[in-house]
Amino acid sequence: MVTVRALRAKAGTEPITMLTAYDAPTAGIVDAAGIDIILVGDSMGNTSLGHESTLPVTVEEMKSRTAAVARATDDALVVADMPFLSFGVDEAASIENCGRMLKEADADAVKLESGPHTVDLTERLVQLGIPVMAHLGLTPQRVKEVGYSRQGTSKESAREILDLAKAHADAGAFSLVLEHVPANVATQVTEAIDIPTIGIGAGPDCDGQVLVIDDVVGMSDRVPPFAAQFGDVKAEMEKAVGAYRDAVEAREFPADEHSHVEDELDELY
Ligand code: KIV
Repeated sequence: MVTVRALRAKAGTEPITMLTAYDAPTAGIVDAAGIDIILVGDSMGNTSLGHESTLPVTVEEMKSRTAAVARATDDALVVADMPFLSFGVDEAASIENCGRMLKEADADAVKLESGPHTVDLTERLVQLGIPVMAHLGLTPQRVKEVGYSRQGTSKESAREILDLAKAHADAGAFSLVLEHVPANVATQVTEAIDIPTIGIGAGPDCDGQVLVIDDVVGMSDRVPPFAAQFGDVKAEMEKAVGAYRDAVEAREFPADEHSHVEDELDELY
């Protein structure tokens, strides 16, 4: 079983692997493949719920999807991604929402899209026994402010990421996602803090890598420039659905082996 402590030990020895999953069957596949961390990302807003962004995802949706993922996971660490405004507004409500992911959905940890407003909250959550994964760089919950653009591209903004990374490590976060930042900035952040960094669009020097499962398996219409597709599940599904439609329309399905007949029911009246 992957634990927060085991992850810290793995950092710097071999790369940490992390993928998103939003349902039990997918989590089962990801877990069986030996992926270290399953993130129930609020990217589910785009990938699974048909929204234009992650902003509409609710605590109830995150709780339900996290519980489904946790039920199908034996070994990986399950991390629930806290939805927009479910944290950072009011401390008591933030703690309650994060706590529900552990108490009611069996998550191992929560992830907070981080900033200056999450340093104290991270410390408080960790004191209470809720492990926190921080997330800096591109944080899609700020889409209305910064879009989906690369972050940390000036000295000032790169320093801000580095300073916030140190502050969250000091506050007790057990790992840090770095999204869409220059590789050389990610290298310096990774060297500067003693918790594992997990990169997405942050170059090869992070302690681990994370991608969205839909991009990896080929279910996305548009893959971000920093992601890679390793399979073509969408093409396989299109083939299967088309073959089913053709078989029904041609009256080839259901065949005899898919039906059963009770002789004494030949004449009901
Ligand atoms: O929601 C998500 O899937 C994420 C990852 C991209 C890190 O935050």
